Amino acid sequence: MRILETGSYQEMSVLAAGILGAQVLLKPNCVLGLATGSSPIGAYEELSKNCQNGLLDFSQVRTVNLDEYCGLAPENPQSYRYFMDQHLFSRINIRKENTHLPNGMAPDLEEESRRYEALIEGLGGVDLQLLGIGHNGHIGFNEPCSDFPRDVHQVQLTESTITANSRLFSRREDVPTTAITMGIGTILKAGKILLIAGEEKKEIIERSLFGKVTPQVPASVLQLHRDVTVITCKRS
Ligand code: F6R
Repeated sequence: MRILETGSYQEMSVLAAGILGAQVLLKPNCVLGLATGSSPIGAYEELSKNCQNGLLDFSQVRTVNLDEYCGLAPENPQSYRYFMDQHLFSRINIRKENTHLPNGMAPDLEEESRRYEALIEGLGGVDLQLLGIGHNGHIGFNEPCSDFPRDVHQVQLTESTITANSRLFSRREDVPTTAITMGIGTILKAGKILLIAGEEKKEIIERSLFGKVTPQVPASVLQLHRDVTVITCKRS
């Protein structure tokens, strides 16, 4: 595991975008696993700039996102599909049909979970997975629990995650309480993993990277993966 400490959110974003960009240069038709949330916005901004000034070409890149809320349509500004279109996909030359997220509106969410797991496998697996981390150690929406969930599945979000996410909604009651997420097994199958985390995640980063491997701290499982890079930043 490589742990890179940077001095600012901007520095972390440039470094993360450099690693993601290098993956695209090395394998133009790579599969990138992507995350939403505050942590990757700066990296997406850098990737967009690098594409717009001709340094990066996303025309053959495929993407799969970690998760999506249940019950939010793609055109809902709080949905993760909307977030990805706004912060990245509409700003780079990626083909829309090559961008994938779970369908949180699917009538049968178990069937949708199976479809999404099979889709990732059908693309040949994820080359590089970008992750953020929750204050409780969640990765994707794999919340602390008694076993590491293996495949894509539907989850009940914890109160702490609903509270953390409510900052982006006008009312707490509007925050969805369920989501579809890649499982821990799905994430671990990625060839490489890149985790980015701000100063406010310092404590959970330490517990995850140096503490006991336990499903109570889902990100602790990353200690078992052979190619993980963690980028932290001192100040936001
Ligand atoms: C988002 C995701 C979550 C976030 C995590 C950190 O797709 O899967 O695990 O990465 O909640 O969110 P931020 O970056 O907003 O602190």
